[in-house]
Parts: sequence; C-alpha cells; structure tokens
Amino acid sequence: MALYTEEINRRRTFAIISHPDAGKTTLTEKFLLYGGAINLAGSVKGKATARHAVSDWMEIEKERGISVTSSVLQFQYDGFCINILDTPGHQDFSEDTYRTLMAADSAVMVIDASKGVEAQTRKLFKVCVMRKIPIFTFINKMDRDANDTFELLDEIEKELGIATCPVNWPIGSGKGFKGVYDRNKEAVLTFSDTEKGTKEGETKEISVKDKENLASIIGQDAADKLYDEIELLDGASAEFDLDAVRSGDLTPVFFGSALTNFGVEVFLQHFLEMTTTPLPRKSDQGLIDPVENDFSAFVFKIQANMNKAHRDRIAFMRICSGKFDANMEVRHVQGQKVMRLSQPQQIMADERKILDEAYAGDIIGVFDPGIFSIGDTVCMPKEKFCYEGIPTFAPEHFARVRQVDTMKRKQFVKGINQIAQEGAIQIFQELSSGMEEIIVGVVGVLQFDVLKYRLENEYNVEIRLEPLPYEHIRWIENKDEVKVDKIVGTSDMKKIQDLKGNPLLLFINSWSIGMTLDRNPGLQLSEFGKN
Ligand code: G4P
Repeated sequence: MALYTEEINRRRTFAIISHPDAGKTTLTEKFLLYGGAINLAGSVKGKATARHAVSDWMEIEKERGISVTSSVLQFQYDGFCINILDTPGHQDFSEDTYRTLMAADSAVMVIDASKGVEAQTRKLFKVCVMRKIPIFTFINKMDRDANDTFELLDEIEKELGIATCPVNWPIGSGKGFKGVYDRNKEAVLTFSDTEKGTKEGETKEISVKDKENLASIIGQDAADKLYDEIELLDGASAEFDLDAVRSGDLTPVFFGSALTNFGVEVFLQHFLEMTTTPLPRKSDQGLIDPVENDFSAFVFKIQANMNKAHRDRIAFMRICSGKFDANMEVRHVQGQKVMRLSQPQQIMADERKILDEAYAGDIIGVFDPGIFSIGDTVCMPKEKFCYEGIPTFAPEHFARVRQVDTMKRKQFVKGINQIAQEGAIQIFQELSSGMEEIIVGVVGVLQFDVLKYRLENEYNVEIRLEPLPYEHIRWIENKDEVKVDKIVGTSDMKKIQDLKGNPLLLFINSWSIGMTLDRNPGLQLSEFGKN
C-alpha cells in the first residue's frame, strides 16, 4: 500500500495551453530534455522529426477523419512522474482540445512575449477557470523583442481575470535580454545564448545586493532600470499565496526563452513544487480520493479507429484513483457491465506502449468496441459511483446538413449519431422543424471535412453542408424556469435543441447575446452544456 500511495503522490498531470506558435512544442521538448527522455544533441533533430511526424499524421487525419496527434507524454524528473497532456492546436483544434483539460490537474499557459494573450489561449483558459485548476504562466521568447513587462501582466489580469504574481522578472528583451531577476533568491540569473539549445548555457547567479558586480555584468543602465522595477514590483504585484494558486485565483508568472533553453528548468522546478498531486474528483457519491479509493477512471476522449473496416475505437481514460492492473476486472458503470479493459496502452504521438499497470494521475487508452461514451466511469466491480459528466463545449461553426440521397436516411442517422457520440461534432435541430433539419456544430472547421469524409467512407452517405452565419451558442441555464418560446431575442437569433431536447440559442455576434439578456430579465445563459 505504501508504495502505491507513493506512486500516486509523485504524479503530476498537466496540460500545456497556448496559441499556436507561442512555443508549446519547444517548451515540452525542453522539459523532456531535463527528464532525460531526449538528449541535448537529439533535441533539435528530434524536433524536426517530430514536426515531420506530426504533419504526416495530420494528412492521415484529414484523409481518414480522425484525430491522432493528441497524445500524452510521460517522463520522470527529480523523483516526479510527469504526465503532459498535449492540447492539439492549429487546424485540429476541436472539442477534444477542451476535453483534454478535463483530464489535467493543472495547466501551463505559454504566452509569446511579443504577442501577449491570444485567441486560443483565451478560449482554453476559460475551461481552466471553470475547473478552478492552478494555472502557471510561462512568458516565452524573451530573446526576441518583447512587450513591456508590466503591460503583459496587466493584459493577463484584465483579459483573463486572474491575478498575477511574477516569480522572476526579465531584464530587457531581444538583443538586450540579460537574464531574469529571481525574486525569492534576490539574485539575477544571467542569460547566455545557447544557440537554440545546442550548447550548454552559462548562467551566473549574482545577488542584487552586489550592485557593482551586477552593473559590470548586465550594464549600468539595465541595473538601474532593474532596481527601479523591483521597487515598483514589490509595491504593485499580488503577494504570493499558494492557496490562491491552487484554487486558480493567482497565476505565478515566469519569464524565459524555451528555444535557447533559458529559464525552463527553473520553471519546471518551481512548477513541480507548487502544483498539486492528482486531485480528488466529484462523483455522485461525493469526492473520490486518489489514494484512499481503489481504481477508478473516466473517459475523456474517444478516437475512431484508423482502419475503417473496423468500427472499434480507442477510449482515453484518466485514472482518478488507485492502481490499474491490466488483468483486473472493472465495472463500466454506464454500460452496467463488468469487464476487462482490453489492450491498455500509453499513447505517445506516434508510439503505443502496452501497459501492465498505471496509477491515479495517468492516462491510458483502451480498445473500445463501441461501448464507451465521453464522460463514462469505470471503477471496481463492487462500486457503482459515477464521475461528474464532462460539459459540452460551445461550437463556433455551424452548418445545415443535407443528405444527397434521401433514401439513405437510416445510415445517415446512424452515422451522424455515432460520430457525435465520439464527440467530434454536436448535432442540433431547429425547435420548430422536427427531425428533418439537422444542424451540426463544431469547434474547429476541420471537423466539417472529417464528418463529410467519414459519412461517405464509413457509412456510404453523401452529404452537403450549408454553412450558417452563427458563431455563438448558449445553453439556457435555467431552462426549467423560463418559457423558451417566450424568449425575445434579436432578429438574428435562432432557437434550437440538442438531441436530449435541451433548448439552446444561436447568435451571429456577441452583441446579440447581450441584447437578448437585456430583453429577457432572469434569463441565464451558459457557454458550457451540462451532461
Ligand atoms: P507551438 O508548439 O506553440 O505551436 O510552438 P513551437 O514550439 O512550435 O514554436 C513556434 C516557433 O517559435 C518555432 O519557430 C520555434 O523555434 C520558435 N520558438 C519557440 N520558443 C522560442 C523562444 O524562446 N525564442 C525564439 N526566438 N523562438 C522560439 P519556427 O521557425 O516556426 O520553427 P523552427 O524552424 O525553429 O523549428
């Protein structure tokens, strides 16, 4: 038992969120470097290969309509067993990207210092806030000209509504980047170019009390500016408060340069110190403790099989408590069945490893003969609790679907329902029109191609998609209290319902949402659908 507790307590499971190109891949690669999973010389080459592999996979995804790029990386560092959940970006940004955050205990937010808070970060951040998980900020690319540091922090606070506490502070940026000031140590860590991480950097640590020495190394002007900023900072920034970090109300901020490998290990060390062990999760029987309880997990992602001749899939589960053993029998609560999870595996980008055991905090992929749905619970046969469902996230693109051959209605309904069950798309119907008019909503437009391709190839059904101009969808939080047909919206608003009969509203712009709320006092709208 002691070993098992220890195994769980040394796990740290987090997702990295960022806008494409902020440096998520580069930072992850440097983490792996410190974890000894790759070596220094291999890192640059490794990255090029990884890139190549990703783009190849993307082609396959496009062709076969599946998402294979999202993965989990596991590595060891300083006694910790670290699981990094990749949140797919670029074209394959989809609901899965959001769902991945449901499986993480904390998030690392990478921000490009010259760009500040960008669209995709903003979207992913909302999910972190909803879950109240700790968020750690790494402001990257300090070796390039950056925005003013105070303005960057201000932007995070205003745009994302989270207090910031800089753990370190940059001295200059771009060609004038001299390093960072570590507020705890009251010392400057100097920056030296590592030629994209191909050679070891030489970081010196100089106490700020040693004024002459510091000025001689970073220059008098930089030193003077730093002393002024330290004073300002001590007066202006939020106090560090670990409880506020853990509840997601305060984000510790670090500055660095992932490419030149500066500030990454310091970040990793602080992060591991401040972030949490696997967290208890809510179930219908109360909180389930990761250590006290036997094995349990929930499904957060379902991936269709690459081989279209088989309808089987892979279900990704986050283990929430206890130890998983490949031979044990478990209960699939929603399916009301006791079974063995078959072919449990750890999924890396392009590599699969069959597992014998895993612990709370880990992610496993299991063979799914079409029985699992997103949010399902798996636990020990003697138990019957269910984890809280995974919310449905707001799609941003909508289209009306029409069948080309109306004779194939049955296949069409079956196909579209199965694809929706995997969570790749959401289906709605107009409130007034019965089942005839189907509206599909997706988070990323690539999913439209995926839907079309898969219906044609797997179900032999051809469809036409007519794009609709809506960009915002809202669930009605207090649907039992309001009369949906009495809601007065703007002229562009559309009332629809999901497959479970929940009413929803579609809007073309956010102004209309505000207007509708104004016109209907008491109406409560939400960006997340409860399951
Ligand atoms: P992503 O996963 O968030 O999309 O970003 P990724 O790490 O792929 O980085 C995007 C680009 O930014 C890459 O350049 C990468 O080298 C660069 N980059 C990442 N971190 C830093 C940094 O700290 N400083 C600087 N100057 N650049 C950084 P690229 O030209 O697109 O690719 P590559 O040719 O360098 O591989």
